[in-house]
Amino acid sequence: MDLETLKKTVAEGLEEAGAAQTADAVEAVRITYLGRKGLMPQVMKELKTVAPEEKAEVGRLANTFKKELAELLESRREELSGDGKGAAESATFDYTLPGRGPRRGTRHPISAVIEEAVAIFGRMGFTVAEGPDVETPYHNFEALNTPGYHPSMDRQDTFWLDDGKLLRTQTSPVQIRVMESRTPPVRIVTPGRCYRRDTTDATHSANFHQIEGLYVDSQVSLADLKGTLAYFAHEMMGPDVAVRFRPHFFPFTEPSVECDFSCHVCSGSGCRVCKGSGWIEIAGAGMVDPRVFEKVGYDPETTTGYAFGMGIERIAMIRYGIPDIRLLYENDMRFLRQF
Ligand code: PHE
Repeated sequence: MDLETLKKTVAEGLEEAGAAQTADAVEAVRITYLGRKGLMPQVMKELKTVAPEEKAEVGRLANTFKKELAELLESRREELSGDGKGAAESATFDYTLPGRGPRRGTRHPISAVIEEAVAIFGRMGFTVAEGPDVETPYHNFEALNTPGYHPSMDRQDTFWLDDGKLLRTQTSPVQIRVMESRTPPVRIVTPGRCYRRDTTDATHSANFHQIEGLYVDSQVSLADLKGTLAYFAHEMMGPDVAVRFRPHFFPFTEPSVECDFSCHVCSGSGCRVCKGSGWIEIAGAGMVDPRVFEKVGYDPETTTGYAFGMGIERIAMIRYGIPDIRLLYENDMRFLRQF
């Protein structure tokens, strides 16, 4: 083979090796060029017939080509062997190893508390109702007997939108929407997002969740409310948790109370979670004010009902011992995977 032909053969060989797509094709290229009866052994054998001035060059080129092609074929073989890692590693891969399953997701503590609260109230006959996050001032304030001079209507406290609507500051407007569209008896809970212009710190967030309850019928009493919240407390926090009412004021309930649960961390003796008091404030509640019934077209003389609203984050923090509300919103996987 003269130098010209050999150069062509070399180029073809390298190209064929690079183009081989299967282990068999790689082997076929090897046999063609490097096999015992292949082209290269033949070139060496016929070296004596090459013109003397080309002989040295042909010998040198044939030798480098043999080495180069062998290396190229070897690396092609490794690339094609499956995982692209190379023959040594794939040979030691243990195919009997169990597979790696996908990591299971966990429920966010806020979702977990909402789902559980809905289930607990569900056992007492409450169904779920929902309302919009963007509310009218009528539903969020006016129909709830909250006058225009009330501090909660202030621009400092409420996110007002350009079109005169607002981001609801509480889930209570859903009470109004439900009563507007149904006749008594009404027994609903409504979980959802609320918004207030609070500066974020360990216990405040401008965006938080409440679950609201409303029971309206003809002979509903404060004792019914207390029994309902006590049952909820036991189911959510444990059988030893006590419930107490403190007098309070809300524009849309009369009388109004705040409802505390005894601290389940220290069982009432006082700790950091309850700030030494033994009690934790959980809900605002009361008997629906007759003026609210008037707004939704119910007869205030014959209709009675109670309402309550509580903070989901507050319950989640106490239940799971979460020291800072911001942990609930940062989506740090190290935090979330614990639940
Ligand atoms: N909406 C009140 C709040 O956000 C809580 C509440 C709900 C009070 C229902 C009474 C009745 O503070």
